[in-house]
Amino acid sequence: MKFFVDTANVDQIKAAHDMGLLDGVTTNPSLVAKEGKEFKSLIGEICGITSGPVSAEVLSTECGAMVEEAKELIKIAPNVTVKLPIITEGIKALKICVAEGMDVNMTLCFQPIQALIVAKVGAACCSPFLGRLDDIGEDGMELVRDIREIYDNYGFTTQLLAASLRHPNHVLEAALAGADIGTMPYSVFEKLWKHPLTDIGLKRFLADWKKTQK
Ligand code: G3P
Repeated sequence: MKFFVDTANVDQIKAAHDMGLLDGVTTNPSLVAKEGKEFKSLIGEICGITSGPVSAEVLSTECGAMVEEAKELIKIAPNVTVKLPIITEGIKALKICVAEGMDVNMTLCFQPIQALIVAKVGAACCSPFLGRLDDIGEDGMELVRDIREIYDNYGFTTQLLAASLRHPNHVLEAALAGADIGTMPYSVFEKLWKHPLTDIGLKRFLADWKKTQK
């Protein structure tokens, strides 16, 4: 499974990149707004850190305007993936963007049938938000498993991008469910390799070694 960080914070993106584990970045309007920087130059800065795909979301909600925004976004860097919401206008815009040769990540997926629809139209990625389903008492991972089954049944090449991952277990379960990509906040990313027994074990090894050095 590829690891993406779900942030527009360049320090966090650099840190993930320096660990050698960064396959790409997803942003959304809320994450960009938090950084207080000009949108396109921020996306350009992020694209300069990683050569992996960087999702940048359009803000329009009408097909023609969405396509125009998408065309501007792909001019920023060759690794920009346009992000469109799964609404009627977004699906219409997806068809046009795909015909123009763009990679599109369809976002805000909460139903398996939405994932089937965007795959049929040619999305490069589909992003189920599993944490937000868990938040309202539903089973977000079931959505990931259902999408995997649908895509495998019909040989769709649309990448299943598990999003809204809230903790390392979400990442593990998404990998077990066959997600192609997991995108996570940096706070989740940096917990992936941590285990208290590893820290305790190392402390003990070093203490034992120190005893022999007297
Ligand atoms: O960026 C898409 C998604 O990962 C957002 O996650 O935590 O805001 O539900 P969250």
